Amino acid sequence: MACSATCIVVVGALLITSACYAVEEQDVLTVGVLLPWSATRPLGPSIASAATIAIDDINANASLLPDNTLRFVWLDTQCDEKMGLHAIVNMWSRRHADHIRGFIGPGCDVVCETAGLLASAWNMPIVSWGCTSNHLSDKDAYNTLARVVGPFTSVAPIGVAVMHRWRWKRVGILAAADVSWQLTAETLKVQLIAGGIDIPFFQRFEHGHKHMTKLQKARHLNIVRRAKDTVRGA
Ligand SMILES: *[C@@H]1O[C@H](CO)[C@@H](O)[C@H](O)[C@H]1NC(C)=O
Repeated sequence: MACSATCIVVVGALLITSACYAVEEQDVLTVGVLLPWSATRPLGPSIASAATIAIDDINANASLLPDNTLRFVWLDTQCDEKMGLHAIVNMWSRRHADHIRGFIGPGCDVVCETAGLLASAWNMPIVSWGCTSNHLSDKDAYNTLARVVGPFTSVAPIGVAVMHRWRWKRVGILAAADVSWQLTAETLKVQLIAGGIDIPFFQRFEHGHKHMTKLQKARHLNIVRRAKDTVRGA
């Protein structure tokens, strides 16, 4: 009697274990998070916790994904096209084992522009939290890509409205040399001029980083001084 009771308990436990296991594997949805962890401007370490918080929130809310458990895996893109492609292809090759259903990120345009094409070819959703490149608005090429930020060029009308609101007539534009900032600056310039605003100063600069030399810092300071003197006048 005692023996048969034990046997039943053991068999029951095994059944429950294997049933849970099967359900768990089937219902796990994984997102592959692509982060610029070790870039020249490493955003990853300061924002990565958002992924764990969001996933905990979603899993805790029965009305969001009631039948699934969400989890994530992540890799460093280094904000670099080559390493970014390496990371997303790595995730793609593990998609069956890891149950990867889509990607969050990347955050850098150079990675979005190529990784977004791969995601389209794979028919995988990819949602960037940081890419602002205009190319990504081409929905034929990037038909599985969405982003929670817009292209910076769409901020131009805001610049014009601010100038008009305060009745400012002159403005200087100092823009980092990156393609996306240059494009933004050009768009802003065209729209400001069309709005009757004078632009006596328009300059590009190489953005800074942690290990700038004294000479580079002095150059930046010099640009800012010239901007002030030119735009404010005497
Ligand atoms: C759960 O998600 C729904 C839909 O987004 C939201 O309205 C609700 O406030 C969330 N509940 C909690 C407890 O966060």
